[in-house]
Amino acid sequence: MLTKAPKGTRDILPDEIYKWYFVEEKFRDICHRFGFNEIRIPVFEHTEIFQRGVGDTTDIVQKEMYTFNDKGGRSITLRPEGTAGVARSYIENGMSSLPQPVKLFYNISVYRYENVQKGRYREFHQFGVELFGAADPAADAEVISLMHLFFTTLGVKNLSLNLNSIGCPDCRAVYNEKLRAVLERKLSKLCATCRERFARNPMRILDCKEESCIREFEEVPVLIDHICVNCSNHFESLKEKLTDMGIPFSVDRGIVRGLDYYTRTVFEFVSKNIGSQGTVCGGGRYDGLIEEFGGKPTPGIGFGLGIERLLLEMDSQNITVPMPEPPDIFIGVIGEKAGKYAEVLALKLRASGITCHKDIIGRSVKAQMKYANKLNARHVVILGDDEIKKGKVELKNMDTGEVREIHIDTLPDRLLKYKQGNNTF
Ligand code: HAM
Repeated sequence: MLTKAPKGTRDILPDEIYKWYFVEEKFRDICHRFGFNEIRIPVFEHTEIFQRGVGDTTDIVQKEMYTFNDKGGRSITLRPEGTAGVARSYIENGMSSLPQPVKLFYNISVYRYENVQKGRYREFHQFGVELFGAADPAADAEVISLMHLFFTTLGVKNLSLNLNSIGCPDCRAVYNEKLRAVLERKLSKLCATCRERFARNPMRILDCKEESCIREFEEVPVLIDHICVNCSNHFESLKEKLTDMGIPFSVDRGIVRGLDYYTRTVFEFVSKNIGSQGTVCGGGRYDGLIEEFGGKPTPGIGFGLGIERLLLEMDSQNITVPMPEPPDIFIGVIGEKAGKYAEVLALKLRASGITCHKDIIGRSVKAQMKYANKLNARHVVILGDDEIKKGKVELKNMDTGEVREIHIDTLPDRLLKYKQGNNTF
């Protein structure tokens, strides 16, 4: 237990963190271009936020939440997604009085007690955006095009964008009745969870993963066939906008999404390359969520993208990410006096923006050079009493093997210029 992380969690190690920095930076950049600003929300919320927001008949709430009582006796849940917390924050921080729409993005860890497999973890990470205060299909198109541009910028190809409309509460009520009528006849063949969902939220029955239940769903009515005129016009307008923007999509009549807050547009970006957990990104409209939390009626739309799945997809498409730059210089030292001098010099170099390494565990000179090689340092100097007396060092460029005697004081400037691509060596 002491040397093994809990099932479904993993460390992101220094030799892979550059990939995370890369996609994080790109995501932030694309969000800013679309006018989205970052929000940071707590890792945990009151449990009720998810029961009411995500819905208490969903798999997430019924089976997957990390819920506990804190020492004050409050029921707390580690966030199983980001939308509900962001919606809570929108209301709590009076964002409805800001100019609308309010456009937010986030980069969060997420917690779900799921069966672990490739691309499915218990702690994972999501990029997400939430756009509040715009009911027009233009908002749907903006959010989807943001995601599309993000993938294109990264060079990720061939993800299918699948769209559906699951209507508004009015069309859903009509649909639920039709669904109930069909499912009622099959009820005895369905599992206990399905039977419980039948009365409270029949649509959620379609999320069931039991083989025997899935077999019973073959002839159930499809939601998009029952949406009202307004919802249908909204969906047609979105499809037209995506076509105009040159964003390919297919309509997948089967998408219902496993969270209760969705209304109208739902969508997923799906990969064929990374196994059964191929949904890299999922999202949709949630026009009733803010009202459900007690705010004034405010439409919303957003998506969540699994960062682990994105990185798996990038690997499978052989998309390489620039490796971190090697250190600009390694300062080797001979003797105690040079050691002290090097400590001050290293700080000076670092303060001027240079990546500088030196030995701090008392290696021999030979071992220091071996270490400098392992670090792949671009330049090396060796400081001894003589160098300090003369104020000069021999600076070796490890890329070319060239060596030049220079004044120690000129080191920061030379190294900075070299780093910026002006080779004045
Ligand atoms: P979601 O579909 O539950 O939606 O999750 C979004 C994405 O998170 C998925 O497409 C997938 O890439 C990733 N993901 C989900 N579960 C796991 C897991 N166990 N391990 C690894 N990755 C996973 C939401 O969370 C909504 N809040 C999205 C949204 C935002 N809708 C509107 N706004």
